Amino acid sequence: MEIHITKSGDKTIYIPSLDETYHSRNGAISESNHVFIQHGINRTKGDINILEIGFGTGLNALLAAQESKKQNRKIFYHTLEPIPVPNHLLEQLNYYQTIEGKGLFKKIHEVKWESIEQVTDNFTIHKTEKKLEYVSLGDAQYDVVFFDAFAPKKQPELWDRTIFNKLFKSVRQNGILTTYSAAGKLKRHLKSAGFLLENPPGANGKREMSVAIKK
Ligand SMILES: C[S@@+](CC[C@H](N)C(=O)[O-])C[C@H]1O[C@@H](n2cnc3c(N)ncnc32)[C@H](O)[C@@H]1O
Repeated sequence: MEIHITKSGDKTIYIPSLDETYHSRNGAISESNHVFIQHGINRTKGDINILEIGFGTGLNALLAAQESKKQNRKIFYHTLEPIPVPNHLLEQLNYYQTIEGKGLFKKIHEVKWESIEQVTDNFTIHKTEKKLEYVSLGDAQYDVVFFDAFAPKKQPELWDRTIFNKLFKSVRQNGILTTYSAAGKLKRHLKSAGFLLENPPGANGKREMSVAIKK
């Protein structure tokens, strides 16, 4: 893993062997805000349970925690990550502008794997150091799924039909799955799992992303 600076000046992680970055090369915070906050959290109301596929740098978790305070809503955040980013790289990321943001980012990362901790009045996190394929998810548990795996071409096994069938079961009625991708295969799998599909414009000028709704 290496540090990569996006065109917006914020940093992300780059995996040379996959030639893949953890976020859009045009901007990490702008992408996370658009895909996961605007088209995830902001499409729901009240207290919610979120499932994240791929904790990575913890950027989505940080933005969700900040949003829970701003909107005064309680968020329970279950995140999965089989390969945690090492501390020496996390320390170089620049996702916060304030001392408060820095403290929150640190607190989120200090939560141990396989434990559940209340990080702020409104934000509780459950960190699971496992692959989605090996985690059993309860039925109708989550209001929002942040599907933030590596790109379909780089990690096809995570964009398989069986994965979206599993996630559909774990989502509550009117719950949503949001992801930056709008690949044709993904659209077909989401629909065949039972989701209604929307494809709004993606982040940073990307033509489309996907929002799947369980009606
Ligand atoms: C695009 S990056 C995620 C970015 C992350 N949400 C962030 O804000 O930094 C994809 C993440 O999925 C993780 N991942 C890889 N295989 C996985 C699997 N089978 N199940 C869950 N997560 C996986 C990777 O290790 C990586 O951290």
